[in-house]
Amino acid sequence: MANGSHFSKFEPYRVKTVEKIKTTTRQEREKILREAHNNMFYIKADDVMIDLLTDSGTSAMSTEQWSALMRGEESYAGSPSYYRLEKTVKYITGYDEVMPTHQGRAAENILFCNVVKQGDIAISNGFFDTTGAHVQNNGGIVMNIPSFTKETIFTDAKFKGNIDISKLAELLVTNSCRVCFVIMTVTNNIGGGQPVSMANIRDTSAICKRYNVPLYFDACRYAENSYFIQKYEDEYRDKTIVEIAREMFSYGAGCTMSAKKDGLANIGGYLALRDSHLARECRQDLILKEGFPTYGGLSGREMETIAVGLMEALDEEYLEYRIGQVAYLGELLIEAGIRIVHPTGGHAVYVDATSVLPHIPSLGYPGVALCGALFLEGGIRAFEIGSLLQGKQPNGSEKAVGLELVRLCIPRRVYNRSHMRYVADVHKYVKDHAENYTGLRISWESTRLRHFTVKLEKISSENRRNKSDDIKQNGY
Ligand code: F0G
Repeated sequence: MANGSHFSKFEPYRVKTVEKIKTTTRQEREKILREAHNNMFYIKADDVMIDLLTDSGTSAMSTEQWSALMRGEESYAGSPSYYRLEKTVKYITGYDEVMPTHQGRAAENILFCNVVKQGDIAISNGFFDTTGAHVQNNGGIVMNIPSFTKETIFTDAKFKGNIDISKLAELLVTNSCRVCFVIMTVTNNIGGGQPVSMANIRDTSAICKRYNVPLYFDACRYAENSYFIQKYEDEYRDKTIVEIAREMFSYGAGCTMSAKKDGLANIGGYLALRDSHLARECRQDLILKEGFPTYGGLSGREMETIAVGLMEALDEEYLEYRIGQVAYLGELLIEAGIRIVHPTGGHAVYVDATSVLPHIPSLGYPGVALCGALFLEGGIRAFEIGSLLQGKQPNGSEKAVGLELVRLCIPRRVYNRSHMRYVADVHKYVKDHAENYTGLRISWESTRLRHFTVKLEKISSENRRNKSDDIKQNGY
C-alpha cells in the first residue's frame, strides 16, 4: 500500500466518480434468491450489494484510461490504437505476433482451433472452465495436473498453483506424440488462485522442450503472479515486475490473455505468439471470428484502455495494495474461524464452504448453499468452485469432488477495507447460524458449463430425508 511511512496504510486512490450501491432488505433478497433458482448468475447486478462474483471486467478504470479512451482511433485497418497496444504487449511478453480479441476465451478459441487435433491431449496446472471447453470443442482431451491435492491445498505452502512436474514428465514420456501443448495458468484460478513459481515454470519449459511440446501461458493474472515470484523467490527480490514477467514469457511459445483481469479493462484480450507461421494461420481465424487483425474484436478506444491498463497493473504500489486487500479479507475470515486457502492468492479468497456449513454433504452443494446464505444475509454475490462446477462426469454421473470452495473474487480498485470487513462479518453470522441453511438439489441443468444456467432448489426437511437416501444409494 501507499508511501512507506510508519503510519497505517491506505488505498492508493482518490475517488473521482461514485456508483451508488442499492441496498435491499433480507425479505427482498429472499424473493430475489428464490426467483433466481438459487443460482447467482440469474441475479440482477442491481440487486447485489457487494459483488464478488468475478474480478473479470469489473475493474475501476483510472483517469489515465478514461483519457486514453478519447484517443481511440476507429479505422478498420491500421489504427494507431492497435499499434500502441501491440507495442505494450511486445514490451511485456517479448512475443512479436499480437492479435487483439474481444476477450480471453476468443484468443483460446483462435489458438486451439489451429493447434488441437481430434484425440490430442492438452495439459495444464488448471484449465479454466472455458479454456478446457475450447480444447474439447476442438476434439481434444484436457488433463489437469496441479501440484496441490484436496488434502494439501489447505497447507501453508507458497506456490500451490504449480504444475506437478513428475506427472508431467511421466505423461510426456508415454504420450508426447499426442500432447498438443501444455498451458500454464498464472495464477491458478481453479486451484485456489494460487501462484506458480518461476522454478516450476522453468522446469516445465525444460521438459516441454525435451519432448518438443509447446508451452503456452494463460496469462490473465500474470502481473499478480509476477508479484508473488518477487515476494517469495529470493533470486527475484530485486527484479522489477516487468523483468519477472518478461523472464516468465521467455520460457513459452505464446500466451492467451484476458485483459479483463490484469489489463485493468472492462473488455478485451489478445493472443500473442512467437511463431510467425502459426500466427499467420491464426490471423485467418481471427478475421473470420473476431475481426481484421488490427482490431480483432475490439474498438480503438478499448485497445487504448488496455494499453494503459497493462502498464498500470505492473505498478508495485498498486500490486501491494491489490494483493494486500485480498490478504486482509483472508485474515478477517481466519479470525472468524473460517478455513480458507492460505496464504491467499492474487485475486480472490477461496473459502472452504464445509468449514462454514459442515452439516451439508458434498452433493447437497455446500458451496452453492454458502453463496445463497451470503446473498440472503448480506447481499453478497460469490462463486462456487466445488461439486456443482466440477462434479459432472463425462458419462453423465455425479461425483462429489471433495473440495467445496467458494471464491470471493475482488474487483480491482473498486471496494475498500470497510467492504471487506462487512463481507467477513456476514460470513461470521452465517457460520454462527449454520443450522438455518440447507443443502440444494438440481432441478434443471444444461449439458455443458452447467453452473452458469443451472436451477437449484432447497432441500426441505422432507426432501432432506430423500436426499440422504439418494446419497446412501449413490454410495457417498
Ligand atoms: N483463463 C482464466 C484463468 C480465467 O480466469 C478466465 C476468465 C479466462 C481464461 C477467460 O477469459 O472471461 O476474458 O474470456 N475468468 C473469469 C473468472 C470469467 O470469473 O474467473 P474471458
